[in-house]
Amino acid sequence: MQLPKKTVVILGGAGLLGSEFARACASEGAHVIIADVNYATGTALARKIGATFMHANIAEATSLKKLVSEIKKKYSTIDGLVHAAYPKTKKYGAPIETADADDLLKNLDLQLGGPLLSTRAFMPILNKKASVIFLSSIYGVAAPRLEIYKSTKMKGVPAEYSAIKGGTIALTRFFAALLGKRGIRVNVISPGGIFDNQPKSFVRAYSQKAFIPPGMLSPKDIAGAVVFLLSDVSQKMTGQNMIIDGGWTL
Ligand SMILES: NC(=O)c1ccc[n+]([C@@H]2O[C@H](COP(=O)([O-])OP(=O)(O)OC[C@H]3O[C@@H](n4cnc5c(N)ncnc54)[C@H](O)[C@@H]3O)[C@@H](O)[C@H]2O)c1
Repeated sequence: MQLPKKTVVILGGAGLLGSEFARACASEGAHVIIADVNYATGTALARKIGATFMHANIAEATSLKKLVSEIKKKYSTIDGLVHAAYPKTKKYGAPIETADADDLLKNLDLQLGGPLLSTRAFMPILNKKASVIFLSSIYGVAAPRLEIYKSTKMKGVPAEYSAIKGGTIALTRFFAALLGKRGIRVNVISPGGIFDNQPKSFVRAYSQKAFIPPGMLSPKDIAGAVVFLLSDVSQKMTGQNMIIDGGWTL
């Protein structure tokens, strides 16, 4: 057990990556709190792995206030906070040339503002030695290969995504500097593309750039790093970006 007696909150814990993080943390002995807007999936998963589900919207200050106060009442402090929520508008992913201006800005707001707002909300209840993990992407450190989306019906990489993911890495360093004095560590993981039934032509084109086959990753490929960063083994590691991409960005 690498996370015995730790209380870990996974924002977006009902999602593709978040649910695997929740399973991995629970199997390493942590008490997991899944906080998500998806009540049905979140409660079902929580029941299955012995976690707690709390309904919360990371982009709304009032919802965050309620979540933090509920957690404080029940657990007093937490040992880990993982940002795996992925809020987006309905039109998210429209081409930059034609995307609605308000929509572009709203996604910046949700996906960069959400983690910023939620980290601030949790600051008072982070234990000394707590670990915070942000989620960026290979597109936070490298330019997207636009051509790999061309032969598919996939929307491609939105301009906001590059800005959000680059900003997430910068935000990690800010919070690492701010919270370091309290012994709190803040790191970010930048995963490569996760396989989620994308079209074969995309998977083939994407995979050509990776060193380690298969090119696309599974959520399990990232969960080990989450456990490592939450555990005491990494207690001197802060402000760092762990790129897990099979060599795609090299
Ligand atoms: N899937 C990938 O290929 C990939 C690759 C690199 C990075 N990432 C990053 O990992 C993170 C998670 O991605 P994912 O693929 O697991 O997404 P996902 O859509 O599968 O899951 C996101 C979860 O967030 C929840 N959510 C949405 N809006 C919310 C809100 N306002 N408040 C609380 N919860 C909310 C959803 O209900 C869902 O359970 C994102 O930051 C994404 O950019 C994903």
